[in-house]
Amino acid sequence: MGQPVNVGIVGCGAISAQYLRTIERLPQVRLVAVADLDLERAREAVLPYPEVEVLGVAELMADPRIGVVLNLTIPAAHAEIALLAVAAGKDVYCEKPLAATSEEARRVLRAAEEAGVRVGCAPDTVLGTGTQTARVAIDDGLIGRPVAATATMMTPGHERWHPNPDFYYVPGGGPLLDMGPYYITSLVTMLGPVASVIGAAGRTRSKRTIGSGPRQGEEIPVTVDTHVTGVLVHASGALSTLVMSFDAAATQAPRIEVHGEQGSLVVPDPNHFDGPVLLSGVGDEGWRTLPESAGYAGAGRGVGLLDFAATGEPRAGGTLAFHVLDIMESLLASAHSGRAVTVESTCERPRPVALETAGG
Ligand SMILES: NC(=O)c1ccc[n+]([C@@H]2O[C@H](COP(=O)([O-])OP(=O)(O)OC[C@H]3O[C@@H](n4cnc5c(N)ncnc54)[C@H](O)[C@@H]3O)[C@@H](O)[C@H]2O)c1
Repeated sequence: MGQPVNVGIVGCGAISAQYLRTIERLPQVRLVAVADLDLERAREAVLPYPEVEVLGVAELMADPRIGVVLNLTIPAAHAEIALLAVAAGKDVYCEKPLAATSEEARRVLRAAEEAGVRVGCAPDTVLGTGTQTARVAIDDGLIGRPVAATATMMTPGHERWHPNPDFYYVPGGGPLLDMGPYYITSLVTMLGPVASVIGAAGRTRSKRTIGSGPRQGEEIPVTVDTHVTGVLVHASGALSTLVMSFDAAATQAPRIEVHGEQGSLVVPDPNHFDGPVLLSGVGDEGWRTLPESAGYAGAGRGVGLLDFAATGEPRAGGTLAFHVLDIMESLLASAHSGRAVTVESTCERPRPVALETAGG
């Protein structure tokens, strides 16, 4: 192993604790400093880590020790923070989506290319044993030629538990841009890039009520679609049917199924790193669980940073994240126009992950 990468986090809200826990156990990654618009929040986040400095955003960007900026701000700030990191000559790894719009994301990728720095982006959950084992099963021909997939995420909405859920209901949020990255990144990992989409979408309410925390009972505006459905036409010809909703009480539908000419797979929740992958061949009775055969075992959010310690395009990379954002925007454009939309971007499937324990 070479030198660990030195990381600075910008944005110390709800998700930061999970990253802090992962980084703590990855010898390839060292957290140097954190920053947030709310300095008190940043201080609280690193109370268990006295060696980590609390800095202003500009100070963190200027810190020569930091090689990678981990951008855990809200979607509306993703591009702004990523562009600051790139301008400072640092690699950047962003929470999803890569930016609130593909136009902003394109600016980030262009600036990074010109500056010769790398862009990574969540979700890295798909580098875990769940999606990776399913990918290997497909690549090994266990279901024959893949022809279709379903992906279903239906909940009543994050305002029930998140103390500051405003960002989930403005552009950059909604069930599609918030949860779609997990599902679509998993689908692209298994079935390859998407060439065109057909969508339909709805919005049930113009306001939501915060369900927990100091702002409980406060109403927040909804300016995005909260139930989005559609079909993704993969370049391979496979068809994925997607349902992403903040308008349902619950569901028993599998998160993801992939169907091939010879068999079907149940793929675990792509918002998690692991879970059983089930296979049923044509004519089989019932399902059998496949042994874990690929992916980071025991991983947590932040494992995508591991590729920054090596060279090359990170597997949780900017080009893939851009394609996923482009697919989602195209789906919404299709929903609003009532016509199929060609997805202009494409990407390679990310390199597979051999079975290993995250962090070694
Ligand atoms: N909460 C979750 O369970 C969860 C899970 C997975 C991914 N994510 C993603 O992580 C990101 C952050 O989500 P969260 O739930 O932690 O949000 P949050 O609102 O709890 O925290 C965001 C933090 O970023 C700070 N911030 C915003 N703009 C900033 C700026 N310009 N400069 C510096 N700091 C800034 C805010 O002050 C806040 O502390 C989002 O992209 C979200 O989609 C969240």
